[in-house]
Amino acid sequence: MRALLPNSIPEVDDTYLLTRYAASQRPFVRFNFVSSIDGSAQRDGLSGGLGSAGDRRIFSLLRRLADVVLVGAGTVRAEGYAGPLIGDADIAWREAQGLSAQPVLAIVSHGLNLEPEDEVFTLSPVPVLVFTSIQVTEEQRNRFASHVELVEVAEVDHGCDPQEIVADLLARGLGFIHAEGGPHLLGQFIAADQVDSMCVSYSPLLLAGSGQRIAHGPRQEARKLEMHSLFEEESMLFCDYRRPE
Ligand SMILES: NC(=O)c1ccc[n+]([C@@H]2O[C@H](COP(=O)([O-])OP(=O)(O)OC[C@H]3O[C@@H](n4cnc5c(N)ncnc54)[C@H](OP(=O)(O)O)[C@@H]3O)[C@@H](O)[C@H]2O)c1
Repeated sequence: MRALLPNSIPEVDDTYLLTRYAASQRPFVRFNFVSSIDGSAQRDGLSGGLGSAGDRRIFSLLRRLADVVLVGAGTVRAEGYAGPLIGDADIAWREAQGLSAQPVLAIVSHGLNLEPEDEVFTLSPVPVLVFTSIQVTEEQRNRFASHVELVEVAEVDHGCDPQEIVADLLARGLGFIHAEGGPHLLGQFIAADQVDSMCVSYSPLLLAGSGQRIAHGPRQEARKLEMHSLFEEESMLFCDYRRPE
């Protein structure tokens, strides 16, 4: 993989990538998506068919850096999250940096439409937070395992309030928030102006069709981000756009 911006470097190693993708402050909210060049966030209903080896490398390194991996319930249902979020090399790196071995997993589900028996819960080696804007009953709480915490937050525009989610995570010491979508969750965070870094991998594919864009929701006042880093491998572009300082 070569760096194009801010400097041209013919081959970059993981140390360079981790330094470029580090957070500039806390809280720091990053979203990571893969998109076809004609704007689809889905190929046959999933994101995986858009990726490449380079995309999977960046995806893993971004998880490695995070305090918490945040994901919408629609993405959990579609993509089948289960088991450890990171591998042994990532764990070793994190421990050497004085970080927890693995990031926490946090799921956003407006209506708590998640089954306690889902493998995203039963196979998780780390605590799982579930943000919801329904009033959770004691019976609902008891259906989930003890490592799953249901957190009530206010409802905003038919979703959970992103500002409350960020404040809650920050209060838990989880200020580096790495969100993996999906489009509804990003739309809500854009509306609440809670996006500091937008990492998009552009796959050199033309798909047409009716796949979703990476953001979905009511149109917002345009906000301009700035290019922080740009990498390229096998015609795939890896951008990190950030909120202007
Ligand atoms: N290309 C990529 O990089 C990428 C990344 C992620 C996902 N995807 C694709 O996107 C599709 C899923 O899209 P999606 O928009 O349905 O995913 P999503 O944003 O993960 O899920 C939407 C659902 O999550 C909950 N949710 C999302 N935002 C919320 C908020 N702010 N407050 C409360 N609840 C919220 C709601 O679930 P409840 O129904 O539980 O209330 C909502 O129905 C899949 O096909 C997936 O493969 C692509």
